[in-house]
Amino acid sequence: MSSIPINLQTPRELPWRPAHLPPTPPDSDSEKAESDSSSQQANSDFPLAPPTLEPTQVLELDKKTPDSWLPRDPRLIRLTGVHPFNVEAPLSDLFNEGFLTSPELFYVRNHGHVPQVRDEEIPDWEFTVEGLVDRPMTLTLRQLMEEYEQQTYPITLVCAGNRRKEQNVVRKTKGFSWGAAGVSTALFTGVLMADVIRRAKPKRGARYVCMEGADKLPNGYYGTSVKLNWVMDENRGMMLAHGMNGEMLRPDHGKPLRAVIPGQIGGRSVKWLKKLIVTAEPSDNWYHIYDNRVLPTMVSPEESANKPEWWTDERYAIYDLSTNSAIAYPAHDERLSMTESSENYRVKGYAYGGGGRRVTRVEISLDQGKTWRLANIDYAEDRYRDASPQHLYGGSLDFGWREASFCWCFWELDMSVAELAGAKDILCRAMDESMNLQPRDLYWSVLGMMNNPWYRIAICKEDGHLRFEHPTQPALMPGGWMERVKKSGGDLTNGFWGEQIEGQSSPKVIEEEKAEIKMTKDGVNEKITIDDLRKHDKEDAPWFVVNGEVYDGTAFLKEHPGGATSITSAAGLDCSDEFMAIHSETAKSMMPDYHIGSLDEEGRAALAGEDITLDENAPPSPSFLSSRAWKKAILRTKKSVSWDTHIFTFKLEHDDQILGLPTGQHLMIRLRDPATREAIIRSYTPISEISKRGYMDVLVKLYLDTNDRPGGKMSKALDSLPIGHYVDFKGPIGKFQYLGKGRCDVNGDERHVKTFYMICGGSGITPIYQVFRAVVQDRDDKTKCVVLDGNRLLEDILCKAELDGFAKDNAEKCRLLYTLTQAPEEWTGLRGRIAAPLLSEHVGRKLHADGEAMVLVCGPEALEKSVHQALLGNGWKDDELLFF
Ligand code: MTE
Repeated sequence: MSSIPINLQTPRELPWRPAHLPPTPPDSDSEKAESDSSSQQANSDFPLAPPTLEPTQVLELDKKTPDSWLPRDPRLIRLTGVHPFNVEAPLSDLFNEGFLTSPELFYVRNHGHVPQVRDEEIPDWEFTVEGLVDRPMTLTLRQLMEEYEQQTYPITLVCAGNRRKEQNVVRKTKGFSWGAAGVSTALFTGVLMADVIRRAKPKRGARYVCMEGADKLPNGYYGTSVKLNWVMDENRGMMLAHGMNGEMLRPDHGKPLRAVIPGQIGGRSVKWLKKLIVTAEPSDNWYHIYDNRVLPTMVSPEESANKPEWWTDERYAIYDLSTNSAIAYPAHDERLSMTESSENYRVKGYAYGGGGRRVTRVEISLDQGKTWRLANIDYAEDRYRDASPQHLYGGSLDFGWREASFCWCFWELDMSVAELAGAKDILCRAMDESMNLQPRDLYWSVLGMMNNPWYRIAICKEDGHLRFEHPTQPALMPGGWMERVKKSGGDLTNGFWGEQIEGQSSPKVIEEEKAEIKMTKDGVNEKITIDDLRKHDKEDAPWFVVNGEVYDGTAFLKEHPGGATSITSAAGLDCSDEFMAIHSETAKSMMPDYHIGSLDEEGRAALAGEDITLDENAPPSPSFLSSRAWKKAILRTKKSVSWDTHIFTFKLEHDDQILGLPTGQHLMIRLRDPATREAIIRSYTPISEISKRGYMDVLVKLYLDTNDRPGGKMSKALDSLPIGHYVDFKGPIGKFQYLGKGRCDVNGDERHVKTFYMICGGSGITPIYQVFRAVVQDRDDKTKCVVLDGNRLLEDILCKAELDGFAKDNAEKCRLLYTLTQAPEEWTGLRGRIAAPLLSEHVGRKLHADGEAMVLVCGPEALEKSVHQALLGNGWKDDELLFF
């Protein structure tokens, strides 16, 4: 990776300074103009780049992809599986960073692999200026930095697919599901594209500047074009950038050179720039033609696939962004107590305009658009505009003359909790200086781009609090009012967000949903066995199963827009769920070409044995787990609770659903090894309350690779699981169940226990924790508990705060004993291993009549074995001991 030193407080210096700094503006304070960027920052009123921490570790899930050399931030939500890398930050994280986004959280849209450029090669990176010019040129990055004036200014980039998930919920488009965080802002440093093109002297008849990147994709190098007269208009600020927030561009953002086209969709800002070609016609690059367009709404996926002329009509190409806004706070699923109804809540969000047009108002409505209030807007971009000319991050910051607005603005408005409690939803909409107002309704189009209807947050009243629902969640993550309304049969296109309109009898279910796309080929009747399928689980000839039909993906390996990995990762597997969820109608309609047969009965049964699919039309079940079938929950968050332990929170099928796990029982988690695709199954006991609705929390101690031993398969697979991905669960399992008030079920026999001894080590606390919590939380449960929890270091004790809290409030019935093998000096608890001496002292059999006490043990195998022996030696009988 980069050899440039990282400084967490101030952004990294560019690797080399342009020898020829821009001339000092005549009216500027020359001392200020010459001082370095960091001292400039100290004096500046404009926002500084947020603290940045360049990721240094290649994530496990990237290791099998062409980007296996590239460290990335694990917080980013992957929108197209593992590869190519298309990600957005969680909306709150993005918003919390403020006006400028750190490069590691900046959204990424890569059509394929990231070209790898070593630091020593950067100065010699070449690009050409060719086509309709009198002076074709080949320039190195060094020349660009030394021979041209360098400028620095803030620019917001927005993917044309920002907010596309909303379109996909209405009807699947050909694009993947961006949430509302496909937007980010940075201070870019580089050269005006106009300066370079001017030197090349465009010829008469030249009208476009085409660009091409270094990333070779299935349909050629990524490329597109912009209009030449816009390039030459400095008010439009098109830049060839090498710096981002004061450091070299990072690989995902185009290192070492990219175009940055302010005010236009991100797709025009070509990364890893290799060519500028001046032409009379717009680019004929595949990605220019088949991407970044808003086709008329009646053009269906099939129509667009059958009639290529839709794609070549320049009227439908997108350049300028449209006016857009979104609410960041309240966040999705945020809860607000209604008890303080006189208090104010600050609603906050972002807005941006297109083509350099400024957002001139943001309006909020609490009565479904009948009346509106003006929000307060902060245009941080103006603070750079108003700053005196100065040198910043290797370029001159001097654009007081420019009227265009290239950046997003933040807005906020205080509302009383009582007002929010009286409303059904919060709506926001922005207007720009040309009075372009966001529309009320969504304009569906086949690529799902430029989605910009009013942003709506639904307000749900739940006992004592308000819960806010954003329209959707990114990627395959469930949640949001749109899915909820759609599932209950609401018509999202009825102009009232799917709510029932007075006088309309019953909600209309969207028709397109009913239309089934045929994915099989007529005349293909081959019966394929599971053995045949399994033989084709290799990368060179991958077969996969969708809905019982077998497809050979070999011929599509090179063309798959997501790269061959998208297919090879499903080889030999049934990928029905993911396939159906991710792919557009067009993709589905291509499937007959690859259809080679149907899995025979035995094969289907074998797959069904792996995955029994439940009846999709069955009403949503009140509890999640099923002991017969694997069920999917989606990873929502990962929280680190100690250096090697994480809490993984999974979203269940619906908000009201409980997990369905009796106290003391466990569930199985199944993941696939990303390399071998072998199923990895382990059992865990979630630590969330059994009554918790909508979510479950699983505490997992991770055994990752170290220098001397390989890590655990499940640990590694879980660790590398991206947020938003499915995991399979099955259960409950376990021979023990705590029924309450001392009653237990052990292998079907009911027992009554007066005292529990709970012995555990490390993450063995999890099933113990469930039982212990059930005892202490029931005031009428008089069962006594002695917990003996053994660990190496103080910081290894899991759930300590919660356990201590329970024990403190229940001193009459609980004793909580921790023992450490490497205790700090000041440690007042027990010391040493859980072994015979400690057990005879604290787990005495003699104190109890027969059958009155029971010992629950959970820990590593070695601990369980030694505890077993010691307890038998102390007079305990096997039927009084339970090993989880
Ligand atoms: N340039 C190249 N060479 N290859 C790409 O895949 N994606 C484009 C654009 N430039 C792309 C590219 C798209 S669609 C967008 S939205 C922006 O890059 C995203 O820039 P970012 O990844 O730095 O946020």
